[in-house]
Amino acid sequence: MPKKIIIDTDPGQDDAVAILLAAASREELQIEAIVAVAGNVGLAQNARNALKVVELSGRTDIPVYAGCSRPMRRRLVTAEHVHGETGLDGPVLPEPKIRLQEQHGVDFLIDKLRATPPGEITLCTLGPLTNVAMALVKAPDIAPRIKEIVMMAGGYFEMGNITPAAEFNVFVDPEAADVVLRSGVPIVMVPLDVTHTILSTRKRLDAIKAIGNRAGAAVEAMLSFSEAFDQQKYGREGAPLHDPCVIAYLLKPELFKGREINVVIETSSELTVGMTVADYWRVTDRPHNVLYLREGDAAGFYALLTERLARLP
Ligand code: BDR
Ligand code: CA
Repeated sequence: MPKKIIIDTDPGQDDAVAILLAAASREELQIEAIVAVAGNVGLAQNARNALKVVELSGRTDIPVYAGCSRPMRRRLVTAEHVHGETGLDGPVLPEPKIRLQEQHGVDFLIDKLRATPPGEITLCTLGPLTNVAMALVKAPDIAPRIKEIVMMAGGYFEMGNITPAAEFNVFVDPEAADVVLRSGVPIVMVPLDVTHTILSTRKRLDAIKAIGNRAGAAVEAMLSFSEAFDQQKYGREGAPLHDPCVIAYLLKPELFKGREINVVIETSSELTVGMTVADYWRVTDRPHNVLYLREGDAAGFYALLTERLARLP
């Protein structure tokens, strides 16, 4: 039986690749819906990008919802400097023909979790955690119904990418991340410590392009665009690929290594707001609330991604 997942996302080139990887993996994953959130760019643009990516995947059976347009308590910070003005610069994708669902994404999350037997739905979060936190605040009864949340969020050994201390998804809405981490829902955290080792080198991108299908060409164009900024920033051979690691973890957990620890979010310090304070060395007796991944097998990841993208149109 495939795992039921809901993807909460702010696409974003790497979010788009994550959606394509999931859409191509029908035997293992049943995508119940995609919910857009404000993050890399504003909500309307992120939602449009989600529709475009669904059409690109050929999986127009997947419903797309729009959730929150701003963080719980803060002004929205976006990242056009990384992802381009559209949030998904790189390939030329047609304007979507499919439409957004009418229901608000947060209400959809609540209704869907209430209507599904407990322990069946995994939430995959690829952006700020606003939608999930709002759903948990509005309907605390859904927490025990969520199987687990696999989130691209945080960093400890690699620290931050938007400030010296904070990773982007947590920094945009630290209060939301705090709500989710305190919810008691089982959490797998895919932080920068992993994604900074999953580098989209030219050889790997060429292999994706060489698949010869529409999806492969689009992914190569997306990642060639977004990697320019990161390559200059980090001076490495390729750019980190963040969000697809969430889906790869669900498909092949053996590609990753980590440990159960406590993670708390800094929400008050001006200097370090959004920091994921990860007790990796277990120096406190705070309860373990996260499976914190620290290592990933980059070669295994790209082999999986390339093989799956070849299944798409
Ligand atoms: C995260 O920030 C976004 O820009 C990426 O899509 C990813 O989810 C990495 O910090
Ligand atoms: Ca993202």
